[in-house]
Amino acid sequence: MTNQDDFSNVISFVNGALDVPSSPIIPYIEGDGIGIDITNYVKEIVDKAVYISYSGDRTILWKEVLAGEKAYNKVGQWLPNETMDAFRKYLVGIKGPLTTPIGEGIRSLNVALRQELDLYVCLRPVRWFEGVATPLLHPEKVHVTIFRENTEDIYAGIEWAAGTPELKKVLNFLQNEMGVAKIRFPESSSIGVKPVSVEGTERLVRAAIEYAIENKLPSVTLVHKGNIMKFTEGGFKKWGYGLAEREFSDTTFTENTFNKIKVEKGLESAVSAYNTAMTEGKVFIKDVIADAFLQNTLLKPEEYSVIATLNLNGDYISDQMAAMVGGIGIAPGANINYKTGHAIFEATHGTAPDIAGQNIANPCSMLLSAVMMLDYIGWSEAGSKITKSLEMMFKKGHATNDLARFMHDGTSLSTSDFANELINLL
Ligand code: NAI
Repeated sequence: MTNQDDFSNVISFVNGALDVPSSPIIPYIEGDGIGIDITNYVKEIVDKAVYISYSGDRTILWKEVLAGEKAYNKVGQWLPNETMDAFRKYLVGIKGPLTTPIGEGIRSLNVALRQELDLYVCLRPVRWFEGVATPLLHPEKVHVTIFRENTEDIYAGIEWAAGTPELKKVLNFLQNEMGVAKIRFPESSSIGVKPVSVEGTERLVRAAIEYAIENKLPSVTLVHKGNIMKFTEGGFKKWGYGLAEREFSDTTFTENTFNKIKVEKGLESAVSAYNTAMTEGKVFIKDVIADAFLQNTLLKPEEYSVIATLNLNGDYISDQMAAMVGGIGIAPGANINYKTGHAIFEATHGTAPDIAGQNIANPCSMLLSAVMMLDYIGWSEAGSKITKSLEMMFKKGHATNDLARFMHDGTSLSTSDFANELINLL
């Protein structure tokens, strides 16, 4: 085996693109709770898919790094520096779910990883697998990829608790210097700040548009609450359109432009410009207010393809849309910085302490995240083999108990039986 520290095994980022050697070192965090039950199977399935896809010419050199309870028990730290260094150096990694430490000074290990590497996109693809039970009549119409901004918004963690001296200072500033008279119950209010910037918006929307162009997808929808929060969420919409019109005028057509043509030359001209743009294969950039969007996802999900949205909206949207396809337990995710290449792929569920150690956990969320990782490093052949095998398993009702119990004629398999059947199918 190749020396794990060999420079030739390190993925690098050259001229805006990943340079992936045939045997890249990929750091992984096993995860706590059910992380221990699923991570090894995920690695085994990925190894087999890679082996058969490239006749043994490519292989992943897995490098375990510590985080969470395992790290705390072994080295007395929840997130050791070596782990951060590994993700920094090797660029692409994957992680199982981690216990959120209580009262240890780190709010969440996931948030710490995202902030440290400035992973500004939270990428969540949502699709339905035939056979999986869902509350929708036509789940096959749901096929979206959500780009959730990961570093700003009310999630930036800038808030002050009611009754503290810090809060008093903030109140004093707002009321006496800024003339704010709208705080309904100032004495008992906590206050949070919501930063949304041009840079933060543009890098997120740019990533979403580039993804749509690369994957020949029809539209990017900016989801926001700009009708109420005019400068933050409204800014997101304005700057998003501005970016599309400035940087992607050859490859996109915006609803903004449509409306301008409509006002200046009438509806017919606007429709004609839209039709021409669509026949030229341009991506339609549109926007919708978040509450209307959530309603529309249920009524006409086929109208949406790529979604670009702020942090809090993205949190709600990701879980709602995953639940619409019955897949909250199998929804994959990734946190990515497209400017540096850094990316961490992850199971989106938690450590499920209620079922940990019982060999019944569903490995699919982490497995589909691994498929996203294979796509990201350009090894899509291996990823699509895993997806096809999963499609076959779900179609015949073979799944772990969390899904099988709701399937028509479902067969409940243990984690190990599910993984082994999948490996044989590959
Ligand atoms: P959870 O996602 O661990 O569990 C919620 C429910 O879903 C439980 O009934 C569980 O049995 C079930 N479930 C989750 N994943 C499953 C799987 N793969 N297969 C079958 N059933 C599954 O959420 P909970 O209980 O709120 O959190 C437990 C711990 O996980 C906490 O410490 C929390 O902070 C942490 N957490 C970590 C996350 C991460 O590392 N990305 C995300 C969410 C929670």
